[in-house]
Amino acid sequence: MDRVEESEGPQEIVNLYCNPSSTIILTILGLRPKADMTRFGSYKLLSIRTLLRLFLSQAMGYRKLPCSVLFLCIFISCFIPHQSLDDEENLTAKLFIDASERSSHPIPQTLFGIFFEEINHAGAGGLWAELVSNRGFEAGGSNIPSNIDPWSIIGDESSIIVSTDRSSCFERNKVALRMEVLCNSEGASTCPSGGVGIYNPGFWGMNIEQGKSYKVVFYVRSTEAIDISVSFTSSNGLQTLASTNIIASASDVSNWTKMEVLLEAKETDHNSRLQLTTSKKGVLWFDQVSAMPLDTYKGHGFRNDLFQMLADIKPQFIRFPGGCFVEGEWLRNAFRWKASVGPWEERPGHFGDVWMYWTDDGLGYFEFLQLSEDLGALPIWVFNNGISHNDQVDTSSVLPFVQEALDGLEFARGDSSSKWGSVRAAMGHPEPFDLRYVAIGNEDCWKKNYRGNYLKFYDAIKRAYPDIKIISNCDGSSRPLDHPADLYDFHVYTSANNLFSMSNQFDQTSRQGPKAFVSEYAVTGKDAGTGSLLAALAEAGFLIGLEKNSDIVQMASYAPLFVNSNDRRWNPDAIVFNSFQAYGTPSYWVQRFFTESSGATFLNATLQKASASLVASAITWKNSDGQTYIRIKAVNFGSNSVNLQVSVGGLDPNSVKLSGSTKTILTSANLMDENSFNEPDKVAPIQTLLEQADKEMSVLLLPHSFTSFDLLKESVSLRITADDWFLKSSI
Ligand code: AHR
Repeated sequence: MDRVEESEGPQEIVNLYCNPSSTIILTILGLRPKADMTRFGSYKLLSIRTLLRLFLSQAMGYRKLPCSVLFLCIFISCFIPHQSLDDEENLTAKLFIDASERSSHPIPQTLFGIFFEEINHAGAGGLWAELVSNRGFEAGGSNIPSNIDPWSIIGDESSIIVSTDRSSCFERNKVALRMEVLCNSEGASTCPSGGVGIYNPGFWGMNIEQGKSYKVVFYVRSTEAIDISVSFTSSNGLQTLASTNIIASASDVSNWTKMEVLLEAKETDHNSRLQLTTSKKGVLWFDQVSAMPLDTYKGHGFRNDLFQMLADIKPQFIRFPGGCFVEGEWLRNAFRWKASVGPWEERPGHFGDVWMYWTDDGLGYFEFLQLSEDLGALPIWVFNNGISHNDQVDTSSVLPFVQEALDGLEFARGDSSSKWGSVRAAMGHPEPFDLRYVAIGNEDCWKKNYRGNYLKFYDAIKRAYPDIKIISNCDGSSRPLDHPADLYDFHVYTSANNLFSMSNQFDQTSRQGPKAFVSEYAVTGKDAGTGSLLAALAEAGFLIGLEKNSDIVQMASYAPLFVNSNDRRWNPDAIVFNSFQAYGTPSYWVQRFFTESSGATFLNATLQKASASLVASAITWKNSDGQTYIRIKAVNFGSNSVNLQVSVGGLDPNSVKLSGSTKTILTSANLMDENSFNEPDKVAPIQTLLEQADKEMSVLLLPHSFTSFDLLKESVSLRITADDWFLKSSI
C-alpha cells in the first residue's frame, strides 16, 4: 500500500472573501462565496490548490460549464503565483455497482452507535450539566479530613475556620463541611465586605449565561439563625452575576434542612463560580451543594449542545459507562451501579482511579439509561465482572458480582413493583428501559479468571433473561471463541496506515458463531494528534470495510467520545468541549457520514483501483420522506487525485436515471489539520447539490479526501429552484 504522506508542505491560504481571484473562481464555478462556503456562521479558508481541485471536480463531473467559462477559469488560474498541480497526476479507477436487490445485503439497524466513557471529564463536567464539582465535600472518600477540592475558602484564619466531619444526614456520604464564622456584620471583628465563606469554580469555570435560570440546592444546619448569600460571581468574585439571600431562624435550621433557590443571571460569564457567604458569626454545616441550569435536554440534566452533537450522529446504540472506568485500577474504585442510583444527594460518588478523578455520580446508571432513551439508542451496559486492572475476584467467590448484575437488569427492565424496578420507578421512570445488550467486563479476555467468571454471569443472565444478548471480551474474528456469546468485543487503536489497511479485517472472518462488536476503534498516536484529518480518513476507510462486512459485524463505535479540553486524559476524541463551547474533530465528522448506513442496504460493488489507497462502497438508503438514494462513499487516502468512473447497473427500468443528488467532501489543505475552538469547522464536510448525475458518471476524488455522493433515484420527482442550489449540509 502507498505510504501516506505525514504532511504536506506549507501552502498559501487565502481568505475567500478578501482574495479576488478566489472569488472569481468560485463565481465561475457557480458557488456563491458567502452562501456556499460558509458553514455554521464561520468562514472556510481554502488554499488555491484546494479551489482548483474543487473546480476540477465540478467541471469534470457535475456542472455543465460553458467552454468560454472553462477557459477563462484556466486562464485565471495560470496567473495565480506559486501554485502548481504538476505533482498531482490523476489516477483512474472504476467502481461497478450492482444496484439490483439480489446482490445486496441488509446492514444491521444497530451498526453505528456511540461509546460513552467517563474519561476526560466526559460526564462530570461535561455532558452532565451539574455545575458544582465535589458537591458533597466527599472527594477522596469517606475519611476525614476529606478532600474538599475544588472548593476554596473566602476569608482568612482570623475570620473563618473550615473543616470536615462525618455529621451529614446522608448515610452513604457522611462527610459534611463545617464552617465556623469568627467575624460579624459589626463590632470588634467585622467581616470583610462581601462576607466570608466558600466557593466552587465547578469544572474549570461555570458557564453562567445572561437570562438563564439555575437551580441551586444545598443542605444546611446551624445552632444559630443564618443569613447566607448564594451567588454566581466572576472567577475572582468581584462581579456578581446573580445573587439571593437565605435567612432562617435557628429553629428552622437546627436539623439538616434543604434549601432551594432559583437564580437568574443578569450577565454572562463562562468562567464563573458559586459562592456561599455570610457576615454572621456562628457555626454552620453544609452538605450536597448542587447548581443545575434549568435549560437541559428535556430537563433530564444533559447539557443541550453536547446532547445535540450526539443526536446528530443518530446513534443506534450507546455503550456505557466505560471502558477501563468500569474495571478500575482496583476493584474498590470501579464503577458500581447501585452507588449511582436513587436521589442524587444520597449517592456516595467515587474516585475513578484509572482516569484519576472524582465523580459525584450524578450521571449514574439511571441517567445513562435515560440518555439512551432520549437518543433513541439501544443501551449497552458494560458491568464489572469481578476483575479490575490489578485485582480479580476468584470465580468461586464471584456470585455477589453476578447478583449485582442481575439486580441491575431488574432495575432496568423489572416491573415497577419489583425490588429494583421500584427504585427506577421512584426515580421517575415506571416503564422499563429497553435494555437488550450487556457486556461482561472490558478488555479482560486474557485475565486468569475471565472465562470462569464470564460463564457464571452468562449462565445466570441467560437463565433469567434469555433474550438478552451477551458480549464477550474475547476477540472471535480470527478464531472461534471457546465459550458461548452473542457478540464479541473487538478493539483497535493503531496508526493511520494500519487502520486504513484494516478495511479488509473481517473479510476472512467466519460467518458462523457470534457477531463482532467493534466497540472501540480509533487512530491514535502521532498520526492522530488531537484529532487530525489523516486519522479521520483512515477511520473512514476502516468503516467502509465494516459496512461491507456488516453481515458479521453488527455494531461499531469510535472511542473515546468526549474530552473536556481542560483534562485531556486521552487523545484523540470525537467531541472537544469546554464550559461553553464544543466542536467535532474530523473523526466526529466521519461518523456523521455513516448515520444513514444503519438499517440501509449494502450493494455489491467492485472497485478496479489504480492504487491501494482507495476504498469505496455503495448502499441504498431512504430518507424520512421515503426518497431512496444510492450513496457512494469513497476514501482517497493517497496524495494523487483519482478520477473514479462509476457505473450503476441492475436498476429497475423506472429508475434508470438519477438526479437531484448531493456531494459531500471532507478534506483540508494539510493532512494533519485539526479543528479547534477558534476554527471549529476547519476540517468539516462541505455539501453541494449536484444538478446532473447518471448511472454512468465520472467523479473526481481529491487527494486525501472522503467523498460521499447521494444519488436520488429519478422515480421521485425533485424540483430544483435557484435558491435551492446550495443545500445546507445535513451532516
Ligand atoms: O477508550 C479509552 C480506553 O481504551 C478504554 O477505557 C479502554 O477500554 C481502552 O483500552
